[in-house]
Amino acid sequence: MTVSVADARAVLAANDRGGYTVPTAKLYPFQWNWDSAFVAMGFATFDLDRALTELERLVQGQWADGMIPHIVFHAPADTYFPGPEVWGTHHAPPTSGITQPPVLAIALADLARRGADPARVRALYRAALANHRWWWQARDPEHRGFVALLHPWESGRDNAPSWEGPLARVPETTTTEVRRRDTGHVDASMRPSDSEYRRFIHLVDTYRAAGWDPVRLWQAAPFKVGDVGVTAILLGAEAALLGLAATHGTDADQAEIAARIAAGEAGLRRLWCDAIGQYASHDLIGEALLPAPCSAGFLPLLTGAPGAAEVAALAALLRRWKAEGQLLVPSAPRDAPGFDSARYWRGPVWAVVNWLIAEGLRRHGETELATQVRADTRAAIEGAGFCEYFDPLSRAGLGGDGFSWTAAIYLLLAEEGAAP
Ligand code: GLC
Repeated sequence: MTVSVADARAVLAANDRGGYTVPTAKLYPFQWNWDSAFVAMGFATFDLDRALTELERLVQGQWADGMIPHIVFHAPADTYFPGPEVWGTHHAPPTSGITQPPVLAIALADLARRGADPARVRALYRAALANHRWWWQARDPEHRGFVALLHPWESGRDNAPSWEGPLARVPETTTTEVRRRDTGHVDASMRPSDSEYRRFIHLVDTYRAAGWDPVRLWQAAPFKVGDVGVTAILLGAEAALLGLAATHGTDADQAEIAARIAAGEAGLRRLWCDAIGQYASHDLIGEALLPAPCSAGFLPLLTGAPGAAEVAALAALLRRWKAEGQLLVPSAPRDAPGFDSARYWRGPVWAVVNWLIAEGLRRHGETELATQVRADTRAAIEGAGFCEYFDPLSRAGLGGDGFSWTAAIYLLLAEEGAAP
C-alpha cells in the first residue's frame, strides 16, 4: 500500500465537519478531546488557521469549572452509543461528563511555534490554564502529585490491562439500556468485551446520578486510578503551558505552573515499579500499584521525572520488545497477561502514543530509539493505511479506517523527514 502526504490531508478533509474533525465516520461521529489536539497539529503542517479552529471548537465544550469533556456533540448522530441523552450533562453544545488526556497545551505550543495568531493563542492559553487547574483540584484533591481517573475512558486507553483489577469492583448493572453501536462498525474481536462495556456504562449512570459535580463524583467513584499516562501527558502539557505563559501569561501564572510541575514530577517518581521496569498506575481504592507492562509506562519520558537509571531501564525494555519481533510500541507486550494482538488497548500499536513516546525519548537523549519508534509508526501506516491501530505481530491495520489522528501523525512524521 502506498500512502502520501496528500492522502493524509485527504483523510482530514473527509473527516472535517466544518471546523472540527471526527476521528472517523460512523464509529466516532463527534469531536473527541485528545484526538482533536493531534488533528490540530496535523492541520498545522499545512493550514494554521484551520488548526486553531479545531482547538477553538474543542474549547466550546469546556465547562465553567475548567473541565474539557472527552466528547463534544456538536451535531446529532445516531451511529454512536452512549450519546448525549445518556450523559445527561447541562452544557451547550452537549458534551459527555468525563475527560481525556490533556494534549491541548502541547498542540497549542506547536501552533504558536509555527506562528499562529497571538490573540487566538492567548484565548486558548487561558482555556488550557483553567483546564490544568481543574485537573489538579478535581483529580488530585489528596495532593499525591498524580491525577486520578474515574472512568477508564478518561485514560484514552479504554480497555488497558491495568484497568482489569479496579474495574472488577464496578458492577455490571446499569440503569441505562446498553445498545452498543461500535460492534456494528468493527469486528467485536477488536473491541472491548460486553462485560467491560456494561461496567463502563454503570460508571456513567453513577456519575449522572451524582449530578456531574467533581466533589460528589470523587466520593461516589467505584473506580479511582492515579494514571501514569494522563499524569505524564498533563506534565508534558504543563511544560508547554509554561513556555506559552512567558508570552501570554503573568509571572504569577509561571510560578503556579512551575510549582505544579515540581509536585507532579515528584508524584510520578513514586509511580516507578521495579517489578516491571516501568512506571505504573496506582489504584487509589486498593492503594496498590498496578504492575501491568504497557505503552503508557513510557510516557513519563515526556517529563523531567525519570533519572538516568530509569531512562536506561525504559530504553532497554523497548529494545527488548523490538528484539522479540514486536512492532514498537505495543500497548501491551506479547508476554503480558491478557495480551491480544488485535483487541484495542490490549496489544495493538497506536500512532499517537508512539509519537508521544518518541518525543519523550528525544527529550532524554535517546535519539536513536526515538527514530526507531517513528520509523515503526511510519512503516505500520505505509503498510496498512490510516487505520485506527495496528497488530504489533502481523502489522495488520485494525479498527476503523480513514482515521484522523493516524493521518495527523503521518503528517508530523513526514514533515520531519521520517516519511517520504
Ligand atoms: C477510542 C480510543 C480513544 C479515542 C476514541 C476516538 O475510544 O480508545 O482513545 O479518543 O476512540 O478516536
